[in-house]
Formats: sequence, C-alpha cells, structure tokens
Amino acid sequence: MGSELVRISVTGQPHAEAAAVGSVRRGVGPAATSADAGLLGSVSRLRTFYLETFGCQMNVHDSEKVAGVLVARGLRPVENDRDADLILYNTCSIREKAAQKVYSRLGAFRKDGRNTGKIIGVLGCVAQQEGTRIFERAPQVSLVCGSASYARLPGLLEQVEAGNRRVLALSLETDECFETELTRRDSPVRAYATIIEGCDQCCAFCVVPMTRGRERSRSSQKILAECRRLAEEGYSELQLLGQIVNHWADPSPARLSFAELLSQVAEIPGVRRVRFATSHPRYFTPEIVRAIETHPTLCDQIHLPVQSGSSRVLARMQRGYTREEYLEKINCIRSARRAISISTDIMVGFCGEARDDFEQTISLLDAVEYDQVFSFKFSPRPNTAAGKFEDAVLEEEKGRRLAVLQEYQRQIQLRRNQALIGREFEVLVESFQPRLQQAVGRTTSNRVVNFPGQPDWIGRYVNVRVTAAGPNSLVAVRADQAISPRAATRSDAATCAVEVRGATEARRVEWKSK
Ligand code: 5AD
Repeated sequence: MGSELVRISVTGQPHAEAAAVGSVRRGVGPAATSADAGLLGSVSRLRTFYLETFGCQMNVHDSEKVAGVLVARGLRPVENDRDADLILYNTCSIREKAAQKVYSRLGAFRKDGRNTGKIIGVLGCVAQQEGTRIFERAPQVSLVCGSASYARLPGLLEQVEAGNRRVLALSLETDECFETELTRRDSPVRAYATIIEGCDQCCAFCVVPMTRGRERSRSSQKILAECRRLAEEGYSELQLLGQIVNHWADPSPARLSFAELLSQVAEIPGVRRVRFATSHPRYFTPEIVRAIETHPTLCDQIHLPVQSGSSRVLARMQRGYTREEYLEKINCIRSARRAISISTDIMVGFCGEARDDFEQTISLLDAVEYDQVFSFKFSPRPNTAAGKFEDAVLEEEKGRRLAVLQEYQRQIQLRRNQALIGREFEVLVESFQPRLQQAVGRTTSNRVVNFPGQPDWIGRYVNVRVTAAGPNSLVAVRADQAISPRAATRSDAATCAVEVRGATEARRVEWKSK
C-alpha cells in the first residue's frame, strides 16, 4: 500500500474534539507528523515500532488500537523487527499451539542476538496467562501487558523508557473499554469496531474469561459515532466485534438491543456492508435474523460456533444449549426471507468425547450444511475447568477425527459452492495477486472470489459471474464479460488451490482464535 493512504483524520480539529476520533491507514513512511505527536501525546525517545499479531480479529483490532496509541506518541511503524526500537507481540493463548508460537518467536529473537538496545513487549492473552513467567523464560522482554490494561499503555511505555526492565500490567479489574485517540487501520476496505470486551461465560474449554476479564459493553452512542466516522473516512464495510458480540448490552439510557444496534449501523450513510462476530448460540435471537431480512446492508452471513453436535458433550463444555436448541436457531436462520450463509467453529476430541458423540457432530454437518467450518483439536488450557478433566481423548484419535470431519465438510462446501456456478454476485475487492493478475474479493456471504483484475480495484465493488468453484473459494469473471458457465479448468484449479492456501492463512488471523 502506498503512502498516499496515510492520512490522519483528526487533522484540523481542536484537540478537545480529537479524543477517540482518529483513524490512520496503514502505509509506509511516517504515519504521524511530529506536530500530530505533540498534539496527541509526548514525543517518545523510541522512534520506531514493530507489532506482530497472533490470533483472531479481536487481537487484530486490539493491535490496530495499540498501534494508534504508539503513532499518537510519535512512533513510526516499521515492517521489520530489525528496524524497530520497540517490538511488540500481541498474543493469543486460546489453543496450546498459539502460546508456543510466541515463545518460539521470542527464542528465535534471542538466538539471533538482534535484541541489542531494543525494547520487547508481550501483550494480550499469553501476557495475561503467563505473567512474570515471561520475564523468567525470556529475560529480554521488558513489558508484559494483558488486554484489560491497554488503556494504561502510555504510562507503561513511559516506565519502560525510564529504564524499568520489568513492567507488568495484569489487572483484570476494569469496567472500561480500550478507547483510543487514534486507531491505525490495517485494511483499506474493512474497519472493525469493538462493541463489547471480555467474557463472562464459563465454557469449560476456554481461557478468554481469564485473559480478557469481565464483560463490558460500549455505549450505543460511542459505537454509532465511531461507525459514522468510519463511513465518513471511506470505510464502506464495518465489522462489529466482541467475544460474544450478541451479548452486547447497551449501558446508555437508549438501551438499544443488539438487533436495534445492527439496524442503526446498517442505516448509516456510506455503509454498504455490516458484519458482526462472534455470536453465541445461547443469545442468538430471531430479532437478529429479522434485522438482516430488513436491512440489505447487513451481510447475509452468520458465524455461529456450535463446538459439538452432541448434547452430552455440549453440557460438559457448559455451552448452555443442546443440539436441538442449536438446530432451532439454524432453522430460524434458514427460514429467513433471503438466504443467509452460516459458518461455525467445531472442536473434536473434547474430554470424554466418545465415537458416538463424534458421529453426532458429523451428522450435524449434514443437518446444517454449513458454508464454512473452522475446526480444531481440543487442547486443555491452564485455569479452565476442562484443564482438570481426566478423560482426555488420545492425540492420535483427535487427529483422526479432525481429518474425517474436515474431509466430510470439504465435500459439503464443494457441493454448495459448485451450485453457485453461473450466478452473479457483488464482490468487494480486498487484494490483488500480481503473479496471477487476479483480484481477490468477498461476496456479502463471505465467500472468497478470484477473478481477473487490476491492482487498483482494491476497495471497489465489482459484479462478477461465478465460473468455477472449489471448497473454499470461487473463480469468476466480471459480470459484464458474458461467458457461459463451464466446468473448472486447470488454471481455475490452480487459482482455487492458491486461494485455499490463502484462505487458510487469512483464517489464521481472522478466526482461529478468539
Ligand atoms: N482447544 C481447542 N480449540 C479451542 N477453541 C477455544 N478453546 C479451545 C481449546 N481449548 C476454539 C473454539 C472457539 C475457537 C475460537 O477456538 O472452537 O470457537
């Protein structure tokens, strides 16, 4: 992305009005001038920062806000840790592997001997879970900060700059959300807005309540003001975020319901697409489906993690619904006046999951016919109820079940996607693959579509006609190019294969963890 995208929207506004109002788009070159830095915070001895994010959209957006805090202090983002004075890892601990990755990154850094004079910080869920253990295992780290303490980041950075080599912020006792003066937006097309932070559910497998703290909702006024501002800045696709986004409860006197909030965001001039994630089935109401039916800007896509198709396992997971209750919600979505695509998360090999339980999960795939499934092997996490369960499924068996489930679902997705050949869709272009000269975009139903295009189409809406389909993506041509539907060719297959890998990568960022 070129530096022409760098733009600070608070320019020209008095400081008092600038609070919590700015976005700066990701780009090369300085992201804030020293005048901006003087306006927004003290100028730092640290000049440059490198911030790497592990995990889900919540983490991606947290990083955007952390980067905004740093930019406001006069720091400049760099693309490479070698060029950075300050290196931050925003971490995820939802599954075992996610936490291991962070330690291996820190280890690699030490071995390289590249840390001379650099300040290294660990943020996010691993920071919260590991606390001072990080200083012991990785003494080159000077800052450990959980996500519930991000509002304190400027003060913490001052301590680090003053020479404190063990700055720790782990309190979960907060009723505040992380509000920033500036947010550095990573995507040129889609903007995230947090509506609720933390989680009060006690799913037996999940670390989130221990890493992100108690649930706290932002007021509808703040959310709507942020969304209006984003639309004015040119973001036409907005995604509302929360661990349990549909448990949002308006703390303001307006007392909007979640569906009412969706409807109001959908009506903001300039907004063309609204998505929200992640919904919990327990709080999923028909009112949400009615809102989607009523407002074409609310995308025809719902992510509704089921985790297991067995009521027995669901009870053990403390999910708060049965298979039958979940299927009722699915029926409600399927009976909507316009088709809504449905995706889910599934864990295999949860403690005590018998063959029969697993088969019920497979039969749920048939019953629902999901458009996309993100599937994981259960891994016990520290301080969770399931971390103490003693009837673990063997790793090898978990692997086998995962492979079976993924292959089964692959066939379903392939079938569903192939049924779309010949249909026309509006696609928002998100990226461009120079090697294949392909534009990559998404339909409102969140399907990835590859089609011949130009680099400057990023951010545009293009009507396409589907010509071929893989399990994870579609191949298309522009709709104004009249080409009759045909079977997939070898080059389509190559495009699909690339996209399948691409989608897997994207997923690592977007969905693989909370
Ligand atoms: N082991 C494996 N997968 C997990 N997830 C959450 N906790 C665990 C765990 N301990 C998965 C769930 C959740 C997704 C974000 O990550 O499927 O919906």
